Amino acid sequence: MSSSVQDKKPIAVLISGTGSNLQALIDAEQDYNYQVALVISNRPDTFGVERAKQHGITTVVVDHTIYKTRAEFDTQLAKTLQEHRIDTVILAGFMRILTPEFTNLFSGKMLNIHPSLLPKYPGLNTHQKALDNQDKEHGLSIHFVTSELDGGPVILQAKFTVGENESVAKLQEQVQILEHQAYPKVVNWLVQSQIQLRNNQAYFNNQLITEPLQLS
Ligand code: GRF
Repeated sequence: MSSSVQDKKPIAVLISGTGSNLQALIDAEQDYNYQVALVISNRPDTFGVERAKQHGITTVVVDHTIYKTRAEFDTQLAKTLQEHRIDTVILAGFMRILTPEFTNLFSGKMLNIHPSLLPKYPGLNTHQKALDNQDKEHGLSIHFVTSELDGGPVILQAKFTVGENESVAKLQEQVQILEHQAYPKVVNWLVQSQIQLRNNQAYFNNQLITEPLQLS
C-alpha cells in the first residue's frame, strides 16, 4: 500500500504540546499516502516541535500571545498554510479555539482528535469527567472540524471498558495508545478522499456515517 514520496499528500499537523500523536503520524507515514510536511505550534519550545525537527520536518511557531485577536492569529495560521501550499490540516493536541472563518476555509479538510466519546465531554478534563460520572466506557473520537468546538461530525471512535481503580493518568494512557493507532488510519482515509464532509455530515466510501466507525 505504500507509495512514492511524490505521490503522497502533504499534510500540516497543528500542535500545542508533547506531540505524541504527531509522532504516531510520522511513524506511520511510510505505510500510508500522506506526508507530514509542516508542523505548526502555537507555543515555542514544545517537545512536539523538537520531534518534528528531529525528523527534518519544516516547523513554524505561530505564537498566539503576540496576536491581539483570535482572528489575527487565525489569519496568520491560514497564511502559513497557504505559503506552504498545504490544505489538509490535522489538529493533534492543538489547544486553540478556531474562528468560523478559519474552520470554513478548511472545511472537509481538517480533522481533530478528542479524548472522549463525543458528544460526551467536549472541552477539557475529559478523563476526570469520565471518572466523576462513573462511566463504564471511555475512549476517543476523531471528527471533522466545524465551527462548533469539538462538535463536528464524528468519523471514528475507539473505546475500552473502564476498570476498577482507574485514575486520570491510567485513562489517558489507554486513550493515547488507541489514538496512536487510530489517527494515522483516519488521516489516510482523508487524503484518499475515502471520508468526506457533506452538508455537515460525515461519509465513508460514500455512505453516510450514522454511527461512528470503530477501530478494527
Ligand atoms: C490527545 O490526547 C488528544 O486527544 C488531545 O490532546 C492530546 C494531545 O496529546 N486533543 P499529544 O500532544 O499528541 O501527545
